[in-house]
Amino acid sequence: MQTHKILLDTDPGIDDFFAMLLLADAQNVELCGVTAVAGNQVMDKIVRNARGIAALLGWTCPVAAGAAGPMCLPQITAGEVHGDTGLGHFPLPAPTAPLDARPAWELLYEQARALDGALEVLAIGPLTNLAVAFLAHPDLPRYLRRIVVMGGSTEWGNRGAYGEFNFYVDPHAAAVVFGAGVPIDMVGLNVTMQTGISDAEFDGIARLVGETGRAYSELLDFYRNIYRDNDLGFQIVAMHDSLAAALLMDEGVLDLRPAAVRIDCSPGPCRGRSLVDFASQTPNARVAVAVDRPRFWELVLHSLRRAQSDFRIQKSDVRC
Ligand code: RIB
Ligand code: CA
Repeated sequence: MQTHKILLDTDPGIDDFFAMLLLADAQNVELCGVTAVAGNQVMDKIVRNARGIAALLGWTCPVAAGAAGPMCLPQITAGEVHGDTGLGHFPLPAPTAPLDARPAWELLYEQARALDGALEVLAIGPLTNLAVAFLAHPDLPRYLRRIVVMGGSTEWGNRGAYGEFNFYVDPHAAAVVFGAGVPIDMVGLNVTMQTGISDAEFDGIARLVGETGRAYSELLDFYRNIYRDNDLGFQIVAMHDSLAAALLMDEGVLDLRPAAVRIDCSPGPCRGRSLVDFASQTPNARVAVAVDRPRFWELVLHSLRRAQSDFRIQKSDVRC
């Protein structure tokens, strides 16, 4: 089984958190770094969450802070979905390792150079850190094997009719990344919205045992209630970022097709829209068009069962 050496660029974020549980359970993933980007919450909360999750999972790789907002637009966050902390009421442990002194884009570049073309990036937040890395280091593309992106959509959006949140927050960054010439696998809303957790599946998760199991199921329940109690336009609790992470673990979970992807950077209703042309003779990405949901869900359940026994919440972490 091929081992993927990856750098995770993330805006944790509840679905980011469950994607990180998946990565922690993966037998074929070596984590070379975690970079934080503002998105689901403001930067200081994102950095705190990224460092606390790394501590919970026992990750010893560098964790670096990145862009506190988009390259040239006002910041947008999603506290209405992920809560004021960015992780609902989850009792996150305190960080155990110092924040890396390098900014995200320098950590990314240095890890890419060190691995001499073997590094893959899993990008599950706005793409600002990657765009800055490409702009600061024009030779970066030659050192990246692949970028797996949770973002965009072949159909509708979740920010207005067409914008998907990660691309909507920083469409200019997404345009830079899709123009960089690095192989990209795009996992968009058209497949992630098919991962919605059913009530029966929630009931199964609610049977996770102990304080730790309860903390994980309560976080998912927080995420579900947000979708149900707010007029977010969707009733589906989608594991967006977990699906992108799952592609690294098992290429069979998704059906990907070559396409030319362009990002709409206009300020109106099409802001952040991914324009996907499957007929193009010059594709710049593979775009996910179908998901093997049972195969995906089995990976998620396995990671949750492992988490409740291996990544335990300490009593001192539990918020009263
Ligand atoms: O549109 C969904 C994406 O935006 C996910 O990555 C979620 O965590 C938010 O970042
Ligand atoms: Ca995310």
